[in-house]
Formats: sequence, C-alpha cells, structure tokens
Amino acid sequence: MIEPTSKVWMDGKLVDWGDARIHLLTHALHYGTGVFEGIRCYATERGPAIFRLREHVRRLMRSAHLYHMEVPYSEEELVDACRALVRVNDLSACYLRPLAIRGYGEMGLNPVLAPVEVSVLTWVWGAFLGEEALESGVRAKISSWKRNDHNMLPPGAKATGQYINSGLAKMEALKAGYDEAIMLNTTGHVTDGSGENVFVVRDGELATPPISAGCLDGITRDSVMRLARDLGYAVTERDLTRFDLYTADEAFFTGTAAEVTPLREVDDRALASDGRGPVTKEIQQAFFDAAHGRIERYRGWLTPVGG
Ligand SMILES: Cc1ncc(COP(=O)(O)O)c(C=O)c1O
Repeated sequence: MIEPTSKVWMDGKLVDWGDARIHLLTHALHYGTGVFEGIRCYATERGPAIFRLREHVRRLMRSAHLYHMEVPYSEEELVDACRALVRVNDLSACYLRPLAIRGYGEMGLNPVLAPVEVSVLTWVWGAFLGEEALESGVRAKISSWKRNDHNMLPPGAKATGQYINSGLAKMEALKAGYDEAIMLNTTGHVTDGSGENVFVVRDGELATPPISAGCLDGITRDSVMRLARDLGYAVTERDLTRFDLYTADEAFFTGTAAEVTPLREVDDRALASDGRGPVTKEIQQAFFDAAHGRIERYRGWLTPVGG
C-alpha cells in the first residue's frame, strides 16, 4: 500500500493528497488515454536531486505528442512542478509520477474532445523488485504475451492504456511463480520486461535490444550504456533471442523503478553467474554512485530540488 505524502500537484495547484480526486467519467479511465512518467529522486550530499528529470519530461511530451495531447505546460514548468512537489512534501528520496490524461468532459472514442489534465504525484518507493533482488537477482519468464509493436501502440510512448499489455505479462509470470516477465515482439525477438529494459553480458560484452525491436527507449538503459562504455565495456544494441537470455553469462534489468536488478534465471535456466555477476555488480554500483551524486562526471544527470 502506498503511503500518502502531503501534497499532489494538480494543474498548477498543490492540493492535499486526500483531495487529489477525479470524476468517474474521466476519459482516461475508460479508454486508457493518458501518458505518464516514472522518475526517481535520490538523496545526495547536496540534498535531494531528481535523476535525469529533463529527459523524463521530454519523453512525457513526446508521448503526449503521439496521442495529439496538447500539454498546457512547458517542459520547464513541469520540471519546476516536480521540484516544488518534492520540496513541499519534504522528501529526501522518492518516486515521481507525472501524468497527463484526457479528463472529464466528453465520452466516445475521439479523445481530442476531452480536456488534458496534468498532475504529478510523489511517494516513497523502495526497490521495485525487492531489496534482496538487487543482490540475488530475479527469476524471469518469457511471456506468452507479445509486446505491443510500433504499428499497434508504439512502445516508445508511455501511454497508460498500453500497460494492460505489460499487466497481462506480469500476472502470467507471477502466477507461474516467477518474479518478472520478459516480452518478445511479433518476430520473436526480446523487447523488454513489463517495466524494465534488458541487458545480457557475454564474454565481457554487453548487449541490449535496439529500440526498433519494440522496447521503451529507457532512460536508465541510456544511463547504463553510457556508464558501461565509460567503464571500458563494449555495448551493442542488437536483436536478442530467448537463446541469448538462456545462455548469457549475466543478465540484468534496468528501469527507473527496478534500477539495475540482476537476473538469476530465465525460464528455469540458471544463468552462468547464478545471481549477480561481476559485470552487473560493477555497473549497478556505478549506477547507484551516479544517481546519488557520488561521481562528478555524471552530476549533470541530477536536478537538485533546491531549498
Ligand atoms: C516497458 C518499459 N520498459 C522499460 C522501462 C524502463 O525505462 P526507464 O529506465 O526510462 O524508467 C520502463 C519504465 O518506464 C517500461 O515501462
């Protein structure tokens, strides 16, 4: 259960958490017509700082653009809204959820008739797949559900409606006793987890599916590619099959929520590392160091919430 924080930003106003309500006739509730982001704010020695905030806000705007949603705020206004909300809620570390939805006003399948309503929520969210998972890794199942593709619901946009596809995969994996799902595309190549990108490590090299395969253009994925290259690893974006997952030396998920979470098993096949492998550990450490502001060269990824 999410613990309430004090305020929610709703269309330019800070309202009490308990008053952050919408009408049942909200268009997005019926037709999935919303776009959203997931962002983390980390405690750093210079105070709370939001990780790659501008990139997240830009992606929100791109998602909105795809769905013909005119967001009535500039990127800078949304950046300020996120910072102000963390400040007013007095949080040192948290998750942020900007959300733009087709709101109350019209029904039917033409979304443009319903107004765009924008909000930002924050709450304290620990390790998405569990603290222990960060060390011991998770067990994943290749889903029988295919990922929505570029000509169905473009996977590059984070639209609320498309996440029922991820939900199907996640429920299937959990009911079968696994921790997470990995979805393939319609040509059988790996895309991503229900809410994470995937990397494999083999012979000291990293590989991750290209965006064209149908994964989200993950911001943690991008950060990890940069960190890995800076650490001297070769990183390629190439189509991966399930065989690549089963036979990897190491594999890990990346995502705002999941951060860098090792994979221990895929479809009951233990990976060679049988838990968090050495390359995953090094990259995970570098990621947390960067996110907590402990590495000078990545300070630009952090937006302080200010005082
Ligand atoms: C389907 C999917 N893949 C990957 C990711 C990871 O993206 P990011 O690192 O930008 O959070 C997410 C989370 O937003 C996601 O929902």
